[in-house]
Amino acid sequence: MEKLEQRARGGDEVLPAPSAPDSSAVALRDVRKVYGRRAAAVTALDGVTLDIDRGTFVAVMGPSGSGKSTLLQCAAGLDRPSAGEVFLDGVDLRRLSENELTMLRRERIGFVFQSFNLVPALSAELNVALPLRLAGRRPRRREVRDVLAAVGLAGRGRHRPAELSGGQQQRVAIARALVTRPAVLFADEPTGALDTRTGRDVLTLLRELVDVDGQTIVMVTHDPVAASYADRVAFLVDGRAAGELLDPDPATVAARLAGLEPDRHEADRHEPDGHEPVGLEPGGEKLR
Ligand SMILES: Nc1ncnc2c1ncn2[C@@H]1O[C@H](COP(=O)(O)OP(=O)(O)OP(=O)(O)O)[C@@H](O)[C@H]1O
Ligand SMILES: [Mg+2]
Repeated sequence: MEKLEQRARGGDEVLPAPSAPDSSAVALRDVRKVYGRRAAAVTALDGVTLDIDRGTFVAVMGPSGSGKSTLLQCAAGLDRPSAGEVFLDGVDLRRLSENELTMLRRERIGFVFQSFNLVPALSAELNVALPLRLAGRRPRRREVRDVLAAVGLAGRGRHRPAELSGGQQQRVAIARALVTRPAVLFADEPTGALDTRTGRDVLTLLRELVDVDGQTIVMVTHDPVAASYADRVAFLVDGRAAGELLDPDPATVAARLAGLEPDRHEADRHEPDGHEPVGLEPGGEKLR
């Protein structure tokens, strides 16, 4: 990794000012991502610039299809942008070969999905040990148990996913993502499949990882309450950055989000110039 970093920074050569400040765990510079070609082309990210400081918890929000998952995948090196730069822990991902990128993903990135993605046939302990095995290390039972204990699952290591609740399965997935001590933990709607209470427990755990261990977390969510656990919310609309909120509270996040929904834009666009929007009650319901 040191070599890569040195190479990314150009060693002793005189370089222009670095475009990724050292305090950034993740830095995106004018990132574009286009899926498909010609008539079928979809622009998922349309020039996103974003900095995520080390040891902070950032939520990414926006309407469905606004590019949140694409942003996470490009930032985590799971996918390559069509244009623009991604720096992860100071490393310019464009400079990495496929093998180097795979290594970086295995060792420096943790990823948690809405659907847990655990291996059903393996115990919680073996699921957590998997990334270490993939990285060519022989996992010690002690380190695996420590990570499980850290997510509140001491004593459940021998259970298979089907023997655990949804919230417990997501904790195993978080333990699995943390076992390599990643620079950044990415989570795409980690509470999307959980009931409210279990979801809050998982969010409290994520918050503690930031406050106690200084973990950097980037989480996509649709839920304003989930977003309020973060230090900052970055909004996306149509693949573009659409402002942010610091120290978010659920009501402010919900209000901002409502203003970004496409239906609302449509409604606003059709209002005749110079008139207050009509046909909307204070509660937001349309009159017919
Ligand atoms: N593999 C793909 N091939 C083609 N188009 C894609 C692909 N993945 C995503 N897209 C498109 O890119 C856009 C952004 O998708 P993305 O999954 O990033 O949105 P999202 O904000 O995560 O949405 P949601 O909230 O519904 O999960 C959408 O228009 C989507 O249809
Ligand atoms: Mg998504």
